[in-house]
Amino acid sequence: MRTVRFGIIGCGLMGREFASAAARWCHLPQMQVRPEVVAVCDANEKAMEWFADCCSSVRQKTCDYRELLANEDVEAVYIAVPHNLHEEFYIAALEAGKHLMGEKPFGIDKKANDAINAGIGRHPELFVRCSSEFPFFPAMQRIGRMIERDEFAEIIEVNSGFVHSSDLDPDKPINWKRMVEYCGEYGCLGDLGIHPCHTPFRAGWLPSSVRAVLSNIMTDRPDGKGGRVPCETWDNATLLCKTDEPKTGKMFPMTIKTQRIAPGEKDTWYFEVMGTKKSAKFSTKNANSIEIMEYTGGGPLGGRQAWQQIDMGHEVTFKSITGGIFEFGFSDAILQMWAGFLYELDRGEPMCKFAGCVTPAEAALSHRLFTAAMESQARAATVAV
Ligand SMILES: NC(=O)c1ccc[n+]([C@@H]2O[C@H](COP(=O)([O-])OP(=O)(O)OC[C@H]3O[C@@H](n4cnc5c(N)ncnc54)[C@H](O)[C@@H]3O)[C@@H](O)[C@H]2O)c1
Repeated sequence: MRTVRFGIIGCGLMGREFASAAARWCHLPQMQVRPEVVAVCDANEKAMEWFADCCSSVRQKTCDYRELLANEDVEAVYIAVPHNLHEEFYIAALEAGKHLMGEKPFGIDKKANDAINAGIGRHPELFVRCSSEFPFFPAMQRIGRMIERDEFAEIIEVNSGFVHSSDLDPDKPINWKRMVEYCGEYGCLGDLGIHPCHTPFRAGWLPSSVRAVLSNIMTDRPDGKGGRVPCETWDNATLLCKTDEPKTGKMFPMTIKTQRIAPGEKDTWYFEVMGTKKSAKFSTKNANSIEIMEYTGGGPLGGRQAWQQIDMGHEVTFKSITGGIFEFGFSDAILQMWAGFLYELDRGEPMCKFAGCVTPAEAALSHRLFTAAMESQARAATVAV
């Protein structure tokens, strides 16, 4: 069993998710490679306390990311910090010779993403990916296999989205994810957008133009000190993309929705593919099942069109000790995603096409799309990607 020693930079929500996944690696009995978290870094000393209590493998704790990157014991880093720090931290990690799992949006804007990609170009020996756990749900893995086997035939339409209601409460105090300086001009696109792009981009479905409608619904928020401050980030975005299908050379419409104010949606990721032979739908609202429709065609009354709902249970790509009938959840998707990262780091290729994390090229395409979407909003026009 190969061990990859990790440092975590940014010990907030996502930093803890990774440490927890690493701590239950015994869940994946067939993995030939495992992570060990040996170092943690956060500007806020208090954020590292949880690691001291829960992560006995940690030997270095520091408030300065440069100290962690200078630690020769650290082979790979997971960096989960606010978006304004991605460019500086990711490039420094590459220059320090560390494999990198970065967080989305992989640079606060396209300029930052270009600089990160230049850094990656200088270090082809390092393995670099961006986190996105949604495709690791069993239903999404099944849809990936269906795409690989061309089961949908000609694609008619794709709808992909990540919508939640975290910002529905106007009295929720502002935090960095609602501030342009830290989250970026993209707002909800940068915050949520890579997730709904991951599977379509992996399928090779590439947007060639976009018409975007973005909205800023809550224009101010409590500052946490008794006053209110402007809240200037985009809350919701709907993108209609003209999308090219390389296999047929035809195009189809694809919608990508990212919403932080979606009433009734606590945290919903969905994906729908409509094809001429089969169609499939999945939503984390009903995380245990997938809907598939096969159009059998023919006959004077036309073909039969019946949606089947199939329970997925724990049909995972990286075999787990959990019984096959049991339900799958968010932290399982995180564990599977990390298995995907380590498998590919170790073997040089993913276990299968849809079991890999977002590549730097896919992240770069998302930046081209979001930058075009911002221009589309500003000019009220369709913009080439
Ligand atoms: N993959 C996902 O599903 C998912 C979910 C949420 C967030 N994210 C992404 O993860 C990243 C972090 O988000 P989060 O929700 O964990 O945020 P968070 O606010 O919970 O954690 C960020 C941490 O970074 C630390 N930090 C800030 N400045 C620092 C510095 N100079 N040096 C070291 N540490 C510093 C903060 O103190 C904080 O503990 C973002 O890029 C975000 O978009 C991904």
